[in-house]
Amino acid sequence: MDDAESPPIEAALSDGTRVLVRAFRASDRSMLEEAWFDLSPQTIVQRFQRAVTHLTDAELAHLVDSVDQVNHLAWGAMDAEREPPRGLGIARCIRMADDPAQAELAIVVIDAVQGLGLGTLLTRSLARAAHAQGIERLVGYVQSDNTPAIRMIEACGGRVARKGWGTIEVHVPTDV
Ligand SMILES: CC(C)(COP(=O)(O)OP(=O)(O)OC[C@H]1O[C@@H](n2cnc3c(N)ncnc32)[C@H](O)[C@@H]1OP(=O)(O)O)[C@@H](O)C(=O)NCCC(=O)NCCS
Repeated sequence: MDDAESPPIEAALSDGTRVLVRAFRASDRSMLEEAWFDLSPQTIVQRFQRAVTHLTDAELAHLVDSVDQVNHLAWGAMDAEREPPRGLGIARCIRMADDPAQAELAIVVIDAVQGLGLGTLLTRSLARAAHAQGIERLVGYVQSDNTPAIRMIEACGGRVARKGWGTIEVHVPTDV
């Protein structure tokens, strides 16, 4: 998928920060690596469901090089006013092998700009792109006390589908 198919979105967060949201590219690798240092330990645990101190080469390859915008879609947000741009967040989904109409959702926004609407914007953008690839539902797993993530899912037209031990399964339809 190129930018002509899914054009970048320019928007302002609720504090006025101007952001650019667009399909992630392999050339965004260093921006993603640098944004890692803007994530608090709590945000990392909420994103990865475990404590992670650094990304290994294999994890980076998975997060960057396996994005094909067909089976592994990712949309990133950057500060439109900085040069070089600063990564602010990324939403991705990976198509499920046993059900190609569903994809597993993962999203993170750097702590400094959480609560300003970016997670909602990223998830909606990703959902639109996923829908264009035949994915009907995004499925995410969040910790049961992760109120911001649950509210963001609901703001995107999603819902809590199942409650497990400490983890909640959330569903977001991609046709919202
Ligand atoms: C979950 C996350 C992606 C949400 O991104 P965000 O940019 O903060 O979300 P938004 O600003 O779009 O907020 C969406 C909703 O959550 C609410 N919200 C945001 N931060 C909140 C907070 N700290 N406490 C309570 N509610 C919060 C907003 O008010 C909004 O609700 P509303 O529409 O009813 O007003 C972000 O908090 C994050 O990166 N968390 C760590 C990683 C994570 O939990 N990922 C999800 C599992 S993969």
